Amino acid sequence: MNVTDAVRRRRSIKTFTDRSLEREELEELLELVVLAPNHRMTEPWRFVVLGPEAKRRWGEIKGETRAGRVDDVQAAELVRRKTIESMSSLPGLVAVVQLLADDPEIREEDYATVYMGIQNLLLAAVERGLGTHVKTGAELEGAALRSALGVAEGERVVALVQIGEPAELPAEKPRAPAAARTNWLP
Ligand SMILES: Cc1cc2nc3c(=O)[nH]c(=O)nc-3n(C[C@H](O)[C@H](O)[C@H](O)COP(=O)(O)O)c2cc1C
Repeated sequence: MNVTDAVRRRRSIKTFTDRSLEREELEELLELVVLAPNHRMTEPWRFVVLGPEAKRRWGEIKGETRAGRVDDVQAAELVRRKTIESMSSLPGLVAVVQLLADDPEIREEDYATVYMGIQNLLLAAVERGLGTHVKTGAELEGAALRSALGVAEGERVVALVQIGEPAELPAEKPRAPAAARTNWLP
């Protein structure tokens, strides 16, 4: 598969099959993340691969947040249980952590480079018949997840990337063509 095809076929995958991922598959994908362009070669990343216990713990944390939005006690408990099940069943879950530079300009460049690395992973996953879903949000900054992942001060979880064999391929979401957003200057 060429890169253009991978770009065109990539989707955020909502459901995965139960095919588990080999450690080597994840290692290979992460080695591609670190090849991203990187101004000053700061290499501002590290990765935390969540195993069964850690996925369950993440499910508990996320379940607690979701349950907090539900008034009925039984319904809230169901939400907790479902969230734990759903996070535990993810074939692969990787936290991408940015090592925060003191200098705000470098920090911003580093954030960009981390996401360029994540895109490498997303496209390489497509080439391998895998799918991904990038997850972000306030919970990633929360003390509970940071502690569960062993994230230190001076580090930021910038994404949780779900990885696995897609159970189904979502349709492409409509986008405005670049031509409609492009000015060609003389
Ligand atoms: C930086 C970033 C953060 C995202 N965070 C979330 C998220 O928290 N939850 C989610 O369901 N999708 C998240 N997504 C996925 C987007 O919603 C998705 O890319 C968008 O809907 C377009 O769909 P596609 O990826 O299938 O083309 C995120 C994507 C990016 C690039």
